[in-house]
Amino acid sequence: MQTLTVNLGERSYPIYIGAGLLAQAELFKRHLAGRQVAIVTNETVAPLYLDSLIASLSGCEITSVVLPDGESFKNWETLQLIFDGMLSARHDRRTTVVALGGGVVGDMAGFAAACYQRGVDFIQVPTTLLSQVDSSVGGKTGINHPLGKNMVGAFYQPKAVVIDTSVLNTLPARELSAGLAEVIKYGLICDKPFLGWLEQNMVALRGLDMPLLAQAIERSCAAKARVVGVDERESGLRATLNLGHTFGHAIETHMGYGVWLHGEAVGAGTAMALEMSTRLGWITAQERDRGLRLLIQAGLPVIPPEEMSQENFLEHMAVDKKVLDGRLRLVLLRRMGEAVVTDEFPREVLDATLNADYRALVARLES
Ligand code: NAD
Ligand code: GLY
Repeated sequence: MQTLTVNLGERSYPIYIGAGLLAQAELFKRHLAGRQVAIVTNETVAPLYLDSLIASLSGCEITSVVLPDGESFKNWETLQLIFDGMLSARHDRRTTVVALGGGVVGDMAGFAAACYQRGVDFIQVPTTLLSQVDSSVGGKTGINHPLGKNMVGAFYQPKAVVIDTSVLNTLPARELSAGLAEVIKYGLICDKPFLGWLEQNMVALRGLDMPLLAQAIERSCAAKARVVGVDERESGLRATLNLGHTFGHAIETHMGYGVWLHGEAVGAGTAMALEMSTRLGWITAQERDRGLRLLIQAGLPVIPPEEMSQENFLEHMAVDKKVLDGRLRLVLLRRMGEAVVTDEFPREVLDATLNADYRALVARLES
């Protein structure tokens, strides 16, 4: 088992990474506030892993809340089910919420923990690659609004993140690829050598080579912990973790939550950020193509939905959380391995990026 730390003073917490951790009772028990535990999971993950988690929490007074599965349920109505379950079972302020699932469950359970009786402890047990490398670390919690992704929420840090890599064995291939979008992100924004490592190992990663996946998870979590330790509330550096997300969130919102997976939308959004950085002259066309190839190798879409017009993108991007004083800010690559958050780009370059022929770009790469 590897242990990393998110350094946030008295709110610091460990990230445990290893195979079979779900069965290690001691890892959970050392982080419980009291005897009561509310496990929040969903109808897909519950039949696979809920019993193992309950076994590790033996001796606790447990309520399990099993939510419907899907991004389209990341909303107020579903959040209410968590409060219903906890209040009906008389959970008090020393309850610990345990989020068992992907990013949707983790974001909602974390938000519920932030709000329940004005805040109870919580532990993240992420079960998708995406949630293991990104969403379980850093304390962003919340739900979607019909007008915008993740628009209602709170910064609220967990007490621990327990990453059992074995659970990836049951993850559908499409979801694994979605998680790789966030892994590639770390290479592009802050760890250029990681790109070479990913190019060499992508086939094995997609083939569920567990030791390699554990390495990718560790390197990703280390990068995320570093950024969150410096800028917990996203006043600067943390926004670079949103490479491709402004374009991607527009795709998710426009297409309807769940139609494109979050990681898929981030994949196409990252392709757009690469294209815009190239048009600004910050990276070369060869570097853009390198990024595109890696995304394609990971099984990700790099062509935005053809039904989305420039106006559709602009309308959704206008409600992005990085908009300040009405000005759109984007995460772009100043160079490979270094991201910036900027509003200093000519409007024509953004328009050209939204109208670029991504299909032709990909066809040229494949020829
Ligand atoms: P998800 O939570 O919808 O999970 C994907 C699918 O995999 C679901 O159907 C789920 O039931 C299933 N699943 C989960 N674990 C499984 C397993 N081990 N075996 C089989 N099936 C399993 O999606 P996700 O990609 O994990 O997370 C996406 C969400 O995370 C989005 O809502 C996004 O906004 C959010 N997010 C949050 C942050 C953050 O910092 N808080 C960062 C990135 C993404
Ligand atoms: N996933 C972006 C962040 O945590 O800030």
